[in-house]
Amino acid sequence: MLELNDVTRRFGSNIAVDAVSLSIPEGQMVGIIGRSGAGKSTLLRMINRLTGVSGGVISHSGRPVSTLGGRELRSWQRDCAMIFQQFNLVPRLDVVSNVLHGTLNMRSTFSTMFNLFPREDILRAISILERLGVAENATKRAEALSGGQQQRVAIARALMQSPKLILADEPIASLDPLNAQIVMDALKDINEQEGITVVTNLHTLDTARGYCERIIGMAHGKVVFDGKPDELTTDAVRAIYGAGADGEEISESITSTSLGESARTAAKSRATASNMVPEPA
Ligand SMILES: Nc1ncnc2c1ncn2[C@@H]1O[C@H](COP(=O)(O)OP(=O)(O)OP(=O)(O)O)[C@@H](O)[C@H]1O
Ligand SMILES: [Mg+2]
Repeated sequence: MLELNDVTRRFGSNIAVDAVSLSIPEGQMVGIIGRSGAGKSTLLRMINRLTGVSGGVISHSGRPVSTLGGRELRSWQRDCAMIFQQFNLVPRLDVVSNVLHGTLNMRSTFSTMFNLFPREDILRAISILERLGVAENATKRAEALSGGQQQRVAIARALMQSPKLILADEPIASLDPLNAQIVMDALKDINEQEGITVVTNLHTLDTARGYCERIIGMAHGKVVFDGKPDELTTDAVRAIYGAGADGEEISESITSTSLGESARTAAKSRATASNMVPEPA
């Protein structure tokens, strides 16, 4: 069980996440939705400690996540793999080495420096790539793959670290609808087959409804909805997305995968590029 108790994150006078309390049982597939700036990424980043908390407590199966340091913190970060919108692969490195990097924080500096990977790890990496349908690209450079293939490699890298949780921050926001479906199917399959908890930020309501058994809606740093997809009434959607600053109604471009998506995706890529680098401790 992952538990958040009154978790808050401030950036100066701005409250990005405001006293959020949640319990997420093992094996759940959770979608987090909300407008840009609602605090979705900050919430995920606090769970895996890319960002520290300003207040409150995060714990996982009795482990006090929000206060861990040193080796215990690295062990937690292994247990909760992170997937990003922009894949975060090493572009010039081949696919299988990218996946093997999922084991990096389990290995010695020496073996890391000389890129020495045990044979059993290499075989495991290839079998994970096979499972995700991208094994034929194992020897190609990551940058030579399509976005959908790269995201599957990123998922393979996450699986390589045998995580207990996968945290995905808008994993399909840069993908076309077909690749978006393939990537969401892969996450769902991992959730169902391995029982790994998946918590994913999604910017379209229909994806959250289609894939997640539980939807958490955020607005202005607070949880304003927490329930099953079929409990997401029009009023609930309005509470999450509200009306726009200029009074516009909730539009299809917010709630569905639509043709207007590419423009939003391009804007988001720029906005989130600065959001992917871990903060200095
Ligand atoms: N590193 C940071 N420094 C300062 N402010 C930040 C930082 N990260 C996030 N914020 C602020 O915190 C608030 C929440 O941002 P966050 O990125 O969590 O939103 P989001 O829901 O993920 O939005 P989006 O849908 O655009 O990704 C915003 O007001 C944002 O400007
Ligand atoms: Mg975000």
